[in-house]
Amino acid sequence: MAETPLPTRRPRRLRRTAALRDLVRETRWDVGQLIQPLFVREDARTDAAVASMPGVSRHTIEDVAAEAKELEELGLKAVLLFGLPTEKDERGSGAYADHGVVQEALRAIRADAPDLVLFADVCLCEYTDHGHCGAVVDGRVDNDASLDLLARTAVSLARAGADVVAPSAMMDGQVGAIRAALDRSGHPDAIIMGYAAKHASAFYGPFRDAAESAPRFGDRRGYQMDPANAREALLEIALDIEEGADLVMVKPALAYLDVIRAARERSDVPLAAYSVSGEYAMVKAAANNGWLDERAVVTEILTAIRRAGADLIITYHARQVAEWERRKGHGSG
Ligand code: PBG
Repeated sequence: MAETPLPTRRPRRLRRTAALRDLVRETRWDVGQLIQPLFVREDARTDAAVASMPGVSRHTIEDVAAEAKELEELGLKAVLLFGLPTEKDERGSGAYADHGVVQEALRAIRADAPDLVLFADVCLCEYTDHGHCGAVVDGRVDNDASLDLLARTAVSLARAGADVVAPSAMMDGQVGAIRAALDRSGHPDAIIMGYAAKHASAFYGPFRDAAESAPRFGDRRGYQMDPANAREALLEIALDIEEGADLVMVKPALAYLDVIRAARERSDVPLAAYSVSGEYAMVKAAANNGWLDERAVVTEILTAIRRAGADLIITYHARQVAEWERRKGHGSG
């Protein structure tokens, strides 16, 4: 009887100890690559808590600066701001008001945390009474009528201290319109992160609870991308880069890792992935039931998003990850 042949190639040799596994690990991430989204409410009577996003709170303008300072001390480099205005109107004027909620939050944070990189979302849906991301003309979201409003919003946010403006309305030409307006108004250094490949996703549900930004009629499928399309995502990314985007983004993240990978292969600007509210809510719900080990799952998700090719990750878990890492005593996972 012939002897059973032993394997010559043994991948398990390199898995034997933690030190060996560390040495050959292909993908790492760092707290400094995570961006924490922050909600700011103008009306102190709005509840701070968001039922569908345990652990996330809607800050007042007064307390958001202290929160940002703590995040900076935890090793985070950047936050992404969203506003809840007291008043909404047809043209979303709160988005480009000089003393709008995000503009005031930017000034407050800048005073307390001067080195933090401040990203501000540029969109109208939190500010319009109809809840759509652009101007509504004859019952439809009008692309070209929205561009000027988005450009005004970006300029107003840059003037208030935003380092990065992040247009998320998915209007064609929005990055170009914003670049031109920033340059004309004396903000040539303001950075643009295009929400280039933003899909019309059901994973945004908890965000719309938090930001009170659900559309009052219809849905966003006329401007956000069909979740079925990856080639079109590459077109959107190429257009944003052509129009002057300094950074581009794929959104959501976990169900779109193939799009992140394709985007990484086709473009050389830094790539962000947005792990959205519904991704956070799923992990929290399971963790709070004791069904998943939250830290292990979050670590694995961040690793997977980095492995797919993202450089930066926007995640509601950023603060918690920074706290976990600080307790562990060193930076990389
Ligand atoms: C604004 C905007 C949305 C998100 C980011 N910017 C909501 C939407 O498009 O409906 C979603 C973020 C998340 O779900 O965490 N247009």
